[in-house]
Amino acid sequence: MVTFVTTNPGKAQEAESYLGESVAQHAFDYPEPQTDSFAEVAAHGARVAHEHVGGPVIVDDAGLSIAGLEGFPGPFSSYVKETLGIDRVSRLARREPDQSAAFHTVVGYCDGDPVDGDGVTVDDGTPPVALFEGVVDGRIVAPRGEGGFGYDPIFEHDGRTFAEMTTAEKNAVSHRGQALSAFADWYGDRT
Ligand code: IMP
Repeated sequence: MVTFVTTNPGKAQEAESYLGESVAQHAFDYPEPQTDSFAEVAAHGARVAHEHVGGPVIVDDAGLSIAGLEGFPGPFSSYVKETLGIDRVSRLARREPDQSAAFHTVVGYCDGDPVDGDGVTVDDGTPPVALFEGVVDGRIVAPRGEGGFGYDPIFEHDGRTFAEMTTAEKNAVSHRGQALSAFADWYGDRT
């Protein structure tokens, strides 16, 4: 059993839908280092979460990069959502000629032991952390849809916003679904 350490119920629901009963959620808010690297935040979070939980853990650090806004809000996605809100982010982005955007996730896994194998990036700190990345392209639109969480209503992929998809549909294409898929393949060989 792996513990997904997050205070975000939306992330936990997606992981549970993808990984089933092999994952349990634990709400613990670890401090995030000031860096523009999702991988560094995930590696740090996985170590702190592992120390807190005492068993195998995964954490997930995600962010939205809007091309016409030079990648903003990127690593500041959480702060910008709380301050500007998604409606204003959407309006800002739609004033630009290029409304393309990408969602990034890095999932970090730590159980205290060395990690290696195919499809894994290793952060060699102590203890080591296995990192799995996912990226999905889309574009920023006016908010649509009732599902999902965070920026989902303004992120359109293949004609529908993430908030117009079921959890399973979003997982099939999303940044988080890709990262969880890579993690699940790797973890299946490890156990
Ligand atoms: P963090 O990974 O919790 O730091 O997420 C950064 C920000 O992006 C938060 O405001 C989240 O709500 C938002 N976010 C993370 N993942 C997703 C997603 O899959 N869809 C929409 N918003 C997301």
